[in-house]
Amino acid sequence: GLGDVYKRQEERPVVGQLINDVRAEIETIIDKQKKLIEQAALEKKLEAETIDVTLPGEDVVIGKKHPLNIVLDEFKEIFLGMGFSIAEGPEVELDHYNFEALNIPKDHPARDTQDTFYISDNVVLRTQTSPMQIHAMETRELPIRILAPGRVYRKDEVDATHSPMFHQIEGMAIDKGITMADLKGTLNEVVRQLYGEHTVTRFRPHHFPFTEPSCEMDIQCHKCHGAGCPTCKGEGWIEVLGAGMIHPKVLEGCGIDSTVYSGWAFGMGLERLAVVCQGVDSLFDVDTVMHITNKVSEITGAHYGESNARDVSLRIITDHIRSASFMICDGVLPSNEGRGYVLRRLLRRAARHGKLLGVNEPFLYQVVDTVIHENECQYPELREKQSYITRVIRTEEENFAKTIDGGMKIFADLLAEHKAKGEMQFSGKDAFKLYDTYGFPVDLTEEMVQD
Ligand code: PHE
Repeated sequence: GLGDVYKRQEERPVVGQLINDVRAEIETIIDKQKKLIEQAALEKKLEAETIDVTLPGEDVVIGKKHPLNIVLDEFKEIFLGMGFSIAEGPEVELDHYNFEALNIPKDHPARDTQDTFYISDNVVLRTQTSPMQIHAMETRELPIRILAPGRVYRKDEVDATHSPMFHQIEGMAIDKGITMADLKGTLNEVVRQLYGEHTVTRFRPHHFPFTEPSCEMDIQCHKCHGAGCPTCKGEGWIEVLGAGMIHPKVLEGCGIDSTVYSGWAFGMGLERLAVVCQGVDSLFDVDTVMHITNKVSEITGAHYGESNARDVSLRIITDHIRSASFMICDGVLPSNEGRGYVLRRLLRRAARHGKLLGVNEPFLYQVVDTVIHENECQYPELREKQSYITRVIRTEEENFAKTIDGGMKIFADLLAEHKAKGEMQFSGKDAFKLYDTYGFPVDLTEEMVQD
């Protein structure tokens, strides 16, 4: 042992020297390694912080076109292509233009349904864009083809389908020999260009004081394709415009010879048009979901209007990822109770509908950025927590991916069993398991079983 060595006096300096040498050597090695590690760390840091000046800069959010303007511009484009020109006029109107000249005298019942804000006895906020018909007839050379979009006002309470201020688009064509067939042909062509080749329309007889005959045009509901659903209030059709052949009295009132000239006019609500165009449920949705649905379309390859089942899936994914992002931002985590359970089901249901659209990889997390982009003005904390929200959704998706195929199989088996027995309603334990574990709707009615 070292004790023995020290006892041998003559060897002490030698051993001491040796120990010093060894210590020095070890210190040098440690120093060297330390420097190497520090150097490597520094290099790594520098590399990570390198600024590549050739990379594009970060996107600055400068706002975007309002959904109503998107639809309006599209609409204008179609009419300009048909030789119409755009007309503009006052929102504060004389009673004469808004009512009298349109064959709506003071005691006419049509005034009740268009109660508005009176500036004075003879001046009103216009209730319709139809006064533009009169302005155009008074100021333009025949033949006339105009499109007149603008704000209108009515004394309505705000709800999902009403607002005291909304937008209308007036269209009018006057020429020799114009008939109802021109009206129908024009509107059908416009709708075809706007909503696609296969859009179904319906013309119903109606009454307006300033057109004769009059009609209303409906578009078959984009959600249920005519079957009836909440969006179309069970009707299967959505009313989009009023129209008709301009009343001879109105033409004559503007000095146009109604035995030589005839014309049609229509008036439609822009908000409603936008709702149908963008495939959403209510006016309030127009602003926020269109881009999210577009993103889901981009990832899944499913587009609105292909089939009812695919529309439902697009809608569910859009809504659920939007809600889920907010919940996670709010501090909720997927779990088996309380709000966490709601969140988990939202995500699982969305994931299952992704499967139905043929997407087999986790993809919901990719939609988060669009959800945030659409909402960060009102909810900046969404952006702050973006990577967290994305991670939570992705993790839940990945976990669920391990069991979803099993769920689909259980569902298929149960479905076959039920069909064999002639029952279409799932209930009890079966339904609960599908609901609880696999994100199926709570009661699987015949309709749900089909989608
Ligand atoms: N102005 C009518 C309304 O607001 C719609 C309409 C316009 C009807 C043109 C016929 C012709 O309800």
